[in-house]
Amino acid sequence: MSEHQNVYPVRDAIAANAWADKDTFTAMYQQSKDDPEGFWAEQSKRLDWIKAPTKIKNTSFKRDNVDIRWFEDGVLNVSANCLDRHLEKRGDQTAIIWEGDNPDESKHITYRELHTRTCQLANALKSLGIEKGDTVTLYMPMIPEAAMAMLACARIGAVHSVVFGGFSPDAVAQRIIGADSKLIITADESVRGGKQVPLKENVDSALTRDGTDVCKNVLVVKRTGGDIDWHEGRDLWFDELVDKASAECAAEPMGAEDPLFILYTSGSTGAPKGLKHTTGGYLTYAAMTHQYVFDYQDGEVYWCSADVGWVTGHSYIVYGPLANGATTLMFEGVPSYPTHGRLGEIVDKHKVNILYTAPTAVRALMAHGDSVMDTSSRDSLRLLGSVGEPINPEAWEWFYRVIGNQNCPIVDTWWQTETGGIMISPLPGATALKPGSATLPFFGVQPALVDNEGHQLEGAAEGNLVILDSWPGQARSIWGDHERFVQTYFSTYDGMYFTGDGCRRDEDGYYWITGRVDDVLNVSGHRMGTAEIESSLVAHSAVAEAAVVGFPHDIKGQGIYIYVTLNDGVDPTDELKKELSLWVRKDIGPIASPDVIQWAPGLPKTRSGKIMRRILRKIAANECDGLGDTSTLADPSVVDDLIEHRANQ
Ligand code: WTA
Repeated sequence: MSEHQNVYPVRDAIAANAWADKDTFTAMYQQSKDDPEGFWAEQSKRLDWIKAPTKIKNTSFKRDNVDIRWFEDGVLNVSANCLDRHLEKRGDQTAIIWEGDNPDESKHITYRELHTRTCQLANALKSLGIEKGDTVTLYMPMIPEAAMAMLACARIGAVHSVVFGGFSPDAVAQRIIGADSKLIITADESVRGGKQVPLKENVDSALTRDGTDVCKNVLVVKRTGGDIDWHEGRDLWFDELVDKASAECAAEPMGAEDPLFILYTSGSTGAPKGLKHTTGGYLTYAAMTHQYVFDYQDGEVYWCSADVGWVTGHSYIVYGPLANGATTLMFEGVPSYPTHGRLGEIVDKHKVNILYTAPTAVRALMAHGDSVMDTSSRDSLRLLGSVGEPINPEAWEWFYRVIGNQNCPIVDTWWQTETGGIMISPLPGATALKPGSATLPFFGVQPALVDNEGHQLEGAAEGNLVILDSWPGQARSIWGDHERFVQTYFSTYDGMYFTGDGCRRDEDGYYWITGRVDDVLNVSGHRMGTAEIESSLVAHSAVAEAAVVGFPHDIKGQGIYIYVTLNDGVDPTDELKKELSLWVRKDIGPIASPDVIQWAPGLPKTRSGKIMRRILRKIAANECDGLGDTSTLADPSVVDDLIEHRANQ
């Protein structure tokens, strides 16, 4: 990515009232580095503890002993921190503004109402035999019940595993089995962009798969009233059970290192892995980052447009904002429905002050021209945020100029499912902005760049992004497979957490994320492993071999480009392409829909049989002149054939 010349200085008006101006930021960052124990002991006080921690940091990134503990002797409950402690001061304040897919539907839920309903649901879960330490899978629309379900689990010490509503029955089954969930909470249907998604039907289908009989009950929110099958004895209506449950439910005292949730994400190899996040450190970090990065001020309306199925929804729709007593907006639909003006109209309707969204959404709107924002003024906005993928300077400038009326700083926040919270980002009152750069590390975060041998690079440089020491929000393990956790994140460079991202640091020390350096794709901000898609394809009877790479896509950031070698005697027809495309959609979910399929009579391989993805990426990107050295290939002529028959995108 080319470096952009524009620099946007900090606005005095923002710095004057911000939680951190430049001097505060610099001093606090230095303290977090010099005295992490003292710094985080102080920060932990932002939470209400049943027993305050005395042991603050006990962490090791050494390959032979990866062990991460924060506040380990502290005792607290996350739902009490997000609800109960706010009741006295802000019981009647709106906790969640819900905006339906249909622009005529919205509602406000106060902290008191959210507390009552969560307690009732928590009791309902207990009545189904859910106990502390059990896992519950959530497969839900963007409705307040999703937040209630997360908080109700947290209240009784159950561990939630939210599965994004766009995943297929197979993906749901895999995650139920992986987490050993006794219960799944879902809805009859979800509604997005005027279309229904049959969540309950997908759950029914998931529960026919081998190994899913661990799951004893399905709790169903009636969202649309659409037709669904009913399994007597297994299925239960959410409202029926919750309405009759008591609203008295004491919050379970939890150890700071007890698990709060599992969240599955894709890596470069194998099946998706369930990252394990714990209680005290995670909430401290989510709350602190939400306060400082969004400079959240009491009474403001904050909108993060992510889905609760992703980590962004966990940390910045639910846990961070609610821990801070914020008003958080939850949107059921998509920004392009019923018209492309919807995003701005929602901002006006609810007087949103802070809008946190994804570059792909910005680019999709930008493609329709400035006039898409004509139906709204967006005067209430004070701050914009971006997450999920690198934001190209053009999209940044458009976001700033058109959506933000040249009035709002943009915080480009780099982080990951594994990090639990924002890691590299400007602070609005402290950091001058450069479009396309995530700028500087947050308190307690020590990024570094290393070359492929693990040598640290100094000054302005480009390399692999690692983090040198632990921060409270980070994942502690992979559920049920600590060895895989160690292998994936701590073995490439011993003693360092490896992010999987490439990054450049400029002469001002600003970080510019360049994208994944492993075989993970980022399509519209959704993470996907190429290996997952490949293994789905080779399970089709027509396919002998498949290789998946990303290619630059104007709106999605990356598109999915697939090379397929068919079995002998199979005809390479357009119908078969359609069939394979559907096959992947069905297997993984619509987010994995291929953009391009190219028939590949052969794939470029080294003499030892390794597929040269570098070459496939270049061909997909139409950079066929820069293929580099192909002489090590077992059969260099394969490449000429692929170039000649390169698919038109
Ligand atoms: C990418 C989402 C550039 C990155 C919170 C990371 C970004 C992956 C940014 C994690 C950003 C996220 N700039 N790249 N501001 N934010 N990424 O786990 O490649 O869904 O490794 O977490 O998204 O995706 P995940």
